[in-house]
Amino acid sequence: MPLPNESSRSVAENGEADLFILIADNLADLTRKFQTLVGRTPLPPVWALGYQQCRWGYQSEQDMLELDKNFKKHGIPCDGLWIDIDYMNAFKVFTFNKAHFPSLSRAIKTLEKNGRKLIPILDPGVKQEPGYNVYEDGKKHDVFCRNPQGKEFIGQVWPGDTVFPDFSLREGRAWWAKWVKQFASSGIRGAWIDMNDPSTGVVQNDAMRFQRGRGDHDTFHNQYALGMAMATTEGFAAAHPGKRTFVISRSGYLGMAKHSAIWTGDNVANYHYLRLSIPCSINLALSGVPFNGPDIGGFADHTNPQLLRDWQKAGFLFPFCRNHSAMGTRRQEPWAFDALTLRVCKHYIRQRYKLRPYLYNLFIRQAEQGDAILRPLFYDFDSTPALPLDRVEDQFMIGPAIMQAPIVQEKERSRSVVLPGSASWWSALDGRWLNSGRKVKAAPSELQTPLYVRDGQIIPMTFGEPHDNHWNPRTIEAHVFLRRRAGNIATTVYAFDDGDTLDYQKGGRSAVEITARVKGRKLALATKTMQEGFGSCRIRFVLYDRFDEVTLNDLPLNVKRGRWTFCGTKQEIWISG
Ligand code: NOJ
Repeated sequence: MPLPNESSRSVAENGEADLFILIADNLADLTRKFQTLVGRTPLPPVWALGYQQCRWGYQSEQDMLELDKNFKKHGIPCDGLWIDIDYMNAFKVFTFNKAHFPSLSRAIKTLEKNGRKLIPILDPGVKQEPGYNVYEDGKKHDVFCRNPQGKEFIGQVWPGDTVFPDFSLREGRAWWAKWVKQFASSGIRGAWIDMNDPSTGVVQNDAMRFQRGRGDHDTFHNQYALGMAMATTEGFAAAHPGKRTFVISRSGYLGMAKHSAIWTGDNVANYHYLRLSIPCSINLALSGVPFNGPDIGGFADHTNPQLLRDWQKAGFLFPFCRNHSAMGTRRQEPWAFDALTLRVCKHYIRQRYKLRPYLYNLFIRQAEQGDAILRPLFYDFDSTPALPLDRVEDQFMIGPAIMQAPIVQEKERSRSVVLPGSASWWSALDGRWLNSGRKVKAAPSELQTPLYVRDGQIIPMTFGEPHDNHWNPRTIEAHVFLRRRAGNIATTVYAFDDGDTLDYQKGGRSAVEITARVKGRKLALATKTMQEGFGSCRIRFVLYDRFDEVTLNDLPLNVKRGRWTFCGTKQEIWISG
């Protein structure tokens, strides 16, 4: 391959960097190679792919039970209820304030029964308080970072004087994992790890030394969150053997994806940040962190109903989907505003659950091959001079099948959309097929969002309309996006398992290959079992074009005209019994 007439220079302040050169013919191959080098994201539990509700201010079991009731009342699926720093006792890590959580285990069980997880925040800083067991134990094991004088380095974070575990030490990670294990044994299945940049408050962190004083700050700074993620995940795995783990971090480093997802930190509730959330997630995905997402609705500043609606529509299929806001800002749960906002949020959160089998299969492909989940258009399509794709950052792909082009400008209620490639697109906005290789105008109503499905794709979806987060992968709908054109063909493999344990690694998974082939005015559907470790599944087929005759495995299949609402638009479909 000819080398481009450009050179690049790489320098490092401390020591030599390891240099890897990866070469591939296209971005998808390059991403897979890179992901394989730095570590792929192991398959998360399916609840981590559900909708998550968070706020800095939620602090008690009362708050959690209240949220639980509201999600049920409004028929909005939700998997995770998140608590921020105020659940702790004087901001001491690995404690629960008894006044806020008088019966923690009972509360966790009640939530669990209703299908929800309690996800607490964990900050690395440990309150420097004689007599506090975590602090005393860390001191005993000599795992805290030191200052240049060889004493404990003290920062100023939420608990006041704060010391920091040295995650660069094997013993430091083992020590943290031990505490996580104990903390998680009450039934906590996941955590968000924050302030791990590391954030040391008003105290500069360059005096924070590692390796018992031998390692300077610059050498280890960027790895701090990575070490914390490794140790936190290890603690959860030890607390819940046989189950998958879920940890999400604010900071990260190369290799992060093996241990943790990343949320994009403190954004602001405005359209600038809504727009930015797309390139930010794309860049993370191409930099080795496919499981990521922003605070939907915006963290700092007050959100407003239109912004929340637009953000929920833009972000409903992001790999990580969490509504989070800062203390002192307006509440922004789906029901916090007017009837329209509730309706829109409910619809799009349900749509996420409708598409969860597809998302889950994208995560399987990431775990096995390293494919990005949310990705830029030039991942799947060639950029051409007539239709340059490499500068498009307000459209994105979710896997190979779905393209979104959301409204991300406050005043502009319509926009231009690039339809890349040479195959047609099913416009969920218009409920019809559109030819590609051009730009079209999209003018969605309040309930709609511009979303397009590529011709030649089969998308596994939840059966019927999901009102809760129940995972039933053995009964699904296969949505066949195949235009009636001679020779047109679509194929996919739908894999399914319990969504929570590691049994899939020992054969506890099933997979079925689904193929659809156009023959003149007829459609031939075929299924083939590839793996049977999790039993069989029932499939209802949904077609997006009209065929004179449909067969399934060579037998006639009855399809009738039907309708369903996809992204706010009633779609005309043909559906099997
Ligand atoms: C900073 C985090 O980024 C934010 O999400 C969190 O709410 C606050 N810390 C308080 O814990």
